[in-house]
Amino acid sequence: MGASMKLQFDLFAPDYKKHSYAFYTELREKAPVYKVKMPNGLDAWLITRYEDALSALKDSRFIKRGRTALGEERFKKLIVLEESEYLMETMLAMDPPDHTRLRSLVSKAFTPKMIQGMHENIQNIADGLLEKMEKGKPIDLMSEFAFPLPIIVISEMLGIPTEDRMKFRDWSNAIIDANNHPDRMRKAGPKIKAFVAYLQELVEKRRQNSTDDLISSLVHAEAEGDKLSEKELYAMIFLLIVAGHETTVNLIGNGVLALLENPDQMALLQQNPELIQTAVEEFLRYYSPVEFTTNRFAIEDVNWHGETIKKGDMVLVALASANRDPEQFVNPDQLDITRKHNPHIGFGYGIHYCLGAPLARLEAQIAISSLLNRFPDIKPGTSLEQLEWRPSFLMRGLKELPVIL
Ligand code: HEM
Repeated sequence: MGASMKLQFDLFAPDYKKHSYAFYTELREKAPVYKVKMPNGLDAWLITRYEDALSALKDSRFIKRGRTALGEERFKKLIVLEESEYLMETMLAMDPPDHTRLRSLVSKAFTPKMIQGMHENIQNIADGLLEKMEKGKPIDLMSEFAFPLPIIVISEMLGIPTEDRMKFRDWSNAIIDANNHPDRMRKAGPKIKAFVAYLQELVEKRRQNSTDDLISSLVHAEAEGDKLSEKELYAMIFLLIVAGHETTVNLIGNGVLALLENPDQMALLQQNPELIQTAVEEFLRYYSPVEFTTNRFAIEDVNWHGETIKKGDMVLVALASANRDPEQFVNPDQLDITRKHNPHIGFGYGIHYCLGAPLARLEAQIAISSLLNRFPDIKPGTSLEQLEWRPSFLMRGLKELPVIL
């Protein structure tokens, strides 16, 4: 089918997110492996069915390191900004054994046990933000609550001043929105340069004056020589900052939106606060904050569902689509915060499964419970149809979420 189906949707169109679920329904039915042209000139294949998503994410023919799959010459052409080389050597762009080495350097800080130990601190941060708000007042929930909470938490873990968070937000947003888009990347150039310069300064400070935080321990690892190169050090800090800025924010925002759109579910959660755990899993499934996985590349030709994914082509798994696959989920387009069997892949799958999942879950559970507990009458501050999604195809996140508390 694939070749005869016309491309009706542009992943980079500003209103892509408005129509994407309808697009996925069509693709799952008619063209489960579907080719699109990326603005960087590469062909990318969208994988939209749940079972196929699991297969793709554990298939060793789809690798993360573009340099290896494309060859040095083709890969070099994709780099539009020299500075971005400093941010690319992340574990999310690596395969074993480098991936294993990098992930093991930080995995201890993110185990469920370590994260449980942060419960009280996260609760205090949430309470501190909510205390500043007044009942009956209109606010933008994204900028006043969903955004600051995870940023304060990750900044404290890393040991970076929380006052710098607005700068990070701007830089991080620009980089995410420029993903696979050379023109946007060029435009974001000054912000990326500023980000790299900031990281250099930060690392330099920690080299001279070590403190008890994640950056200091990474700087130690780098000093030991064989564990972490300088580029990998910058990339690691960058990845953790961006992961902290772009994802949990949207889990909180999308979760509250889903509840406002479904007042029966809102009432159910308010009457049964212990449902918060299954509710957060349902938000991850229903409005997955990470809509697509990051880039993977075929290292050989792969025939699949009558199509040929060529060596060097990109593979993008539509997590948001897999999470609404009717073959896997009963009534997939319905929000059900009591859903018992919910093997969603909102945090990905396989060796790159989200490192921050325990942290993101805990933050969202605390944030949404505390918000509803303090402001039980929360309602939309604008008509919900008017809300706009951010333009990144990778993430699903609202620009603003006006509410009346
Ligand atoms: C709701 C919040 C979050 C969601 C939905 C999410 C989702 C994901 C997904 C889908 C992946 C895999 C991407 C792929 O395979 O291409 C991933 C990887 C990753 N996430 Fe998250 N994430 C969240 C929060 C966080 C947080 C708070 C952190 C840490 C501060 C974090 C750190 C990472 C890291 C380091 C990886 C790469 C893991 C690897 O390559 O082995 N994430 N995340």
